[in-house]
Amino acid sequence: MTLQAGGSAPARGPDVVVVMGVSGVGKSTIGQALATTLGWAFAEGDAFHSAAAVAMMHAGVPLTDGDRWPWLDRIGAWITAELAAGQSAVVTCSALRRVYRDRLRAGRPAVRFLDLVAPEVVVADRVRRRVQHFMPASLVDSQYVVLEPLEPEETAAGSVVVPVDGPPELVLRRSLAALGLEPCAS
Ligand SMILES: Nc1ncnc2c1ncn2[C@@H]1O[C@H](COP(=O)(O)OP(=O)(O)O)[C@@H](O)[C@H]1O
Ligand SMILES: [Mg+2]
Repeated sequence: MTLQAGGSAPARGPDVVVVMGVSGVGKSTIGQALATTLGWAFAEGDAFHSAAAVAMMHAGVPLTDGDRWPWLDRIGAWITAELAAGQSAVVTCSALRRVYRDRLRAGRPAVRFLDLVAPEVVVADRVRRRVQHFMPASLVDSQYVVLEPLEPEETAAGSVVVPVDGPPELVLRRSLAALGLEPCAS
C-alpha cells in the first residue's frame, strides 16, 4: 500500500489481533482465515497449554486461574517476540475474563481483541459436531458462566465484537471491517 501525503492510513508498527470467545465459537477457524487473508503470523493459543492442563480439559475439569496465568504468559511471550520482529500477528485465546485480557495487553499496546459472540445453543451444537478436540461439549455451559464480554473501555481502545451467525466467509468479512483491516494484496 502506498501512503499518500495527507492520506487516511498513518504509518504504524505491527498489529496484533487476539481472537477471543468461548470454546466452539470459531476462534481457530476465523483466526486462521484472518491471518491468511492479512498475510500475518498465526498461533493457536491452545498449543501453549501444558500437558497437564490439556489432560484436565479432556477429563472435563475446568482450569483454575492458577493454571491459566503461565499459559497466558506463554501466549504473551509469543506476541512480544512477533512484535519485536516487526511482524503483525493473529493468535487465538479464549480470554474469557477481563483480567486475562489485561494480562495479555500489559506492556503490549498493539494488542486488540476480536470477540466472537454467539448464543449458547449455536456453540453447543458446533462443539457437538466437532471431532478430535480436547474441549468436551459439557464444558460449554461453564464457559458462558465465566465469560465477561468486552467492556466499553476495551472497545474504545480498538477491540471489537463480531457475531458469528453465518458462514465463516461472512464472519471473516465482518471481522476485517470491524477491525478496519484490508486483505493483503498478494
Ligand atoms: N461461522 C461458522 N459457521 C459454521 N460452523 C463454524 C463456523 N465457525 C466455526 N465453525 C465450526 O464450529 C466448530 C468450532 O469451531 P472452532 O474454530 O474450532 O472454534 P474454537 O477455536 O473457538 O473452539 C468447528 O467444527 C468449525 O468447523
Ligand atoms: Mg480453537
